[in-house]
Amino acid sequence: MSFETFSLVRGLHILAVIAWMAGMLFLPRLYAYDAEQAGKPEPLRSEMQGLLRIWQRRLLKIIINPSMTAAWVFGVWMILIHVYGFGQGWGFLLLPWMATKLVAVFVLSGWHGFLAGELKRIQAGTSVRSGRFWRMTNEIPFLIAIVAVLSVTVEWTLG
Ligand code: HEM
Repeated sequence: MSFETFSLVRGLHILAVIAWMAGMLFLPRLYAYDAEQAGKPEPLRSEMQGLLRIWQRRLLKIIINPSMTAAWVFGVWMILIHVYGFGQGWGFLLLPWMATKLVAVFVLSGWHGFLAGELKRIQAGTSVRSGRFWRMTNEIPFLIAIVAVLSVTVEWTLG
C-alpha cells in the first residue's frame, strides 16, 4: 500500500467526518424547535412539526447516516494500512493516541445511535425530551470531536 493511497483515504476520511459532524450538530437544533412547538395553537403546531420532521428525517438519512458509514469505512481502511501496509500489527490499536481516538469515535457513534432512536420517538410523538434538553446537549459531539481530532494530530504517548 503506497503512502499516496493513505493520503487520499485520509482526505476522504476528513471530508466524511466534516459532513457527519455538521449533521450531528444541526439535528438536535431541529429537535429543539420541534419540542418547542408544544402548546402552540393548531393548525400552526401540526404544520411546523410536519415540516421539521421531514427535515429531521432527510438530514439523518441523506447526510448523517451515509457520512458516518463513510467515516468508518475510510477510518478502518487507514487502520488496515497501518496494521498490514506499514507493518505495525494490531498493537497499533493499543497505542495511547489511537486507543483514545477509538474511545472517542465509539462514544460519537453511540450519540449518533441515540439521535437516531430519538428521531423514531419524535416522529411517533412519544419523545419526552424538552427543547432545553436538546439545547444543553447540542455541543456534546463537538466536545468529543476535539478529543477525536487532537488524539490523531498530537499522537500523544505515555512516556
Ligand atoms: C468512525 C470511526 C473512525 C475511525 C476508525 C478513525 C480512524 C482514523 C485513523 C486510523 C486515522 C489515521 C491516523 C494517522 O495515521 O495519523 C484517522 C485520521 C483522522 N481522523 Fe479519524 N477515525 C474515525 C472517526 C473520526 C472522527 C469522528 C473524527 C473527527 C471528529 C476524525 C478525525 C480525524 C482526523 C482529523 C484525522 C487526520 C489526522 C492527521 O492527518 O494527522 N476521525 N482516523
